[in-house]
Amino acid sequence: MSEEPIIKVQNLRKVYRLGTVDVSALRGVSLEVDAGEFVAVLGPSGSGKSTLFHIIGAMLAPSGGTVRVDGLELGQLREAERSHMRKRTVGFVFQRFNLLPTLTAEENIRIAQHIAGKADADEDHFQRIIQFLGIAHRLRHKPFALSGGEQQRIAIARALVNKPPILLADEPTGNLDSENSLAVLDTLKNLNQELNQTVLMITHNPDAAAYCTQRVVRMKDGRIV
Ligand SMILES: Nc1ncnc2c1ncn2[C@@H]1O[C@H](COP(=O)(O)OP(=O)(O)OP(=O)(O)O)[C@@H](O)[C@H]1O
Ligand SMILES: [Mg+2]
Repeated sequence: MSEEPIIKVQNLRKVYRLGTVDVSALRGVSLEVDAGEFVAVLGPSGSGKSTLFHIIGAMLAPSGGTVRVDGLELGQLREAERSHMRKRTVGFVFQRFNLLPTLTAEENIRIAQHIAGKADADEDHFQRIIQFLGIAHRLRHKPFALSGGEQQRIAIARALVNKPPILLADEPTGNLDSENSLAVLDTLKNLNQELNQTVLMITHNPDAAAYCTQRVVRMKDGRIV
């Protein structure tokens, strides 16, 4: 296998400036992920996990180091290319689902197609994804009428509707009870195993990591340990 990793992070550094105070969130992180892998990122609060994901997702600029995602060096992209990458290359799932409360489940998913440019929207893919996630019968409901697990599966559909090669999930089960957590973990596991979706998942739960991922990366104080 000489194929390039789909994510290659080298000596990544991030310093947040808060007035006169510098917070070093990443202190030289290197990580490679191959296409088709499911990797868990574990580590205590404040260890830099979300910062790492936001940089990989081109939502945050690093202070140093290099990031290659799907063959592109993020630091060398123009804003238009970074924006394209945020819409098409990386799908993001959040702990709090971040669904828009006044829109139906379907509209919440469709909005990602609109943002990416509706002309390219792939209706067959939309149907495949909602069938795969088991949410076809919930599309007319608004978020308040859905269980936490259903809301998170709508959010996963939104993240995947533009066919991103990489799915980043930042504590996707952090707001769910154990039953709904298991349903969401099963969903992510099946996406990886059956559709070969590359998934990176932040979690505080070692059992969750062991349940669905092939590799666990541990972070502490801005470093991989
Ligand atoms: N926008 C910001 N401005 C200043 N400091 C920040 C900012 N975002 C994060 N930090 C700091 O950077 C460090 C790493 O934060 P990060 O959110 O990446 O950690 P985390 O591992 O995701 O933690 P958690 O498990 O609590 O979500 C922390 O010290 C945090 O306070
Ligand atoms: Mg975090």
